[in-house]
Amino acid sequence: MTTSTERDLPAVAGGSPAKQTPYGREKRYGAEELRELQEALEQGTLFYAQGRKVRQLEEAFAAKNGVRFAVACSSGTAAIHAAMIAAGISPGDEVITAPITDMGSVVPILYQGAVPVFADLHPNSYCMTAASVEAVITPRTKAVLAVNLWGNACDLQALQALCDRRGLMLIEDCAQAFGCVYRGKPIGTTGRIGCFSLNEFKHISCGDGGIVITDDETLAERLRLATDKCYNRKPNAVTRNPVFLAGNYRMTELQGAVALAQLPKLDSIVERRRAWCGELSRRLEGTPGIALPQPTPGCDPSWWFYMMRVEPQTLKADADTFAKALQAEGLPVGAHYIGVCVYEYPIFTGHSAFAGGEHAYSGRAYHAGLCPTAEEILRTCVSLSVNEAYTAADLEETARAIRRAALWFASGGH
Ligand SMILES: Cc1ncc(COP(=O)(O)O)c(C=O)c1O
Repeated sequence: MTTSTERDLPAVAGGSPAKQTPYGREKRYGAEELRELQEALEQGTLFYAQGRKVRQLEEAFAAKNGVRFAVACSSGTAAIHAAMIAAGISPGDEVITAPITDMGSVVPILYQGAVPVFADLHPNSYCMTAASVEAVITPRTKAVLAVNLWGNACDLQALQALCDRRGLMLIEDCAQAFGCVYRGKPIGTTGRIGCFSLNEFKHISCGDGGIVITDDETLAERLRLATDKCYNRKPNAVTRNPVFLAGNYRMTELQGAVALAQLPKLDSIVERRRAWCGELSRRLEGTPGIALPQPTPGCDPSWWFYMMRVEPQTLKADADTFAKALQAEGLPVGAHYIGVCVYEYPIFTGHSAFAGGEHAYSGRAYHAGLCPTAEEILRTCVSLSVNEAYTAADLEETARAIRRAALWFASGGH
């Protein structure tokens, strides 16, 4: 381990970059996906209600998570929208969610005519807390969409208890959290509904896709209808008898085939990310001026990315300066993650979701200052891209780069 007394100069100070070889990478898709795709094509139909791949995916994913039902769909955004529809979210309702997330979390709330309300985050787990959610509950609140950011869980037990007490539905956004375990349970199974994304950048992927899990049969039926224009495709059912508004969010058999082939790879992907990131945290412990990501108590995260925070007073550098120094070392890092909180986007500050007309959210003021901790997280965070193929040498070089850069800045840059 490097100490401040050793002359291990960071790249910004003229040292040679710590990262001398490319980070480990592996092909995401291979023979298994090809075999499933071929089988899908040979079925002679790519429609989920006629083929077997989407159904097999749903059965396998439900079994993996120990729940009764899984419904596949076209994206993570669609998964969350289907959950909102199934939960009965209606115009004027309020749904509490996180200010640091993807638009895919909030678009479905707006499409339901409902009002996104933002709960502040824990400074080191970067997730919503029961206290921050409780602080923004009103008589119009109908649901909480807990965003399990970076593969870490929110304090879901406390959130579920709060939701039970206040008559709200807890829905989990698990788009970044495949494989995360919370108090011994798979992510997405503490709340009433868990929503996952299979887009290209997630732990497992089928290019684009989503999947929703629940133990509740009524919700499962509504979820299915919500992904398919409210058409009932069950054998002998009257198909065209829609009773609520739903788009076409169907997953095709091609997506189902690829996702089905990806699913058995998930455990290994998560284990390798866990081992790599866990060891990185151990090696970085005590580094001056750096706050490490803190998993929520009881959570074993699945590390979609590794996000630390700079403590500018101690580090004597801000997030941009530190990120540049790490980039000079050859690390795949960036400062500020999504830049600003979601509620600071023009679609919120200017209420520009629709070209005209009234939407319930138009009456709500969205502006900087709503969630001070989340804003502080974004001002100070530096995130490192993580891949399951990263090697022991990658770990060694990454840890060394971060430590020596931090030590150099913290000691005044000389
Ligand atoms: C937290 C979160 N929620 C929702 C989504 C939306 O997923 P998709 O891109 O599959 O629609 C994403 C995707 O990046 C996400 O990270």
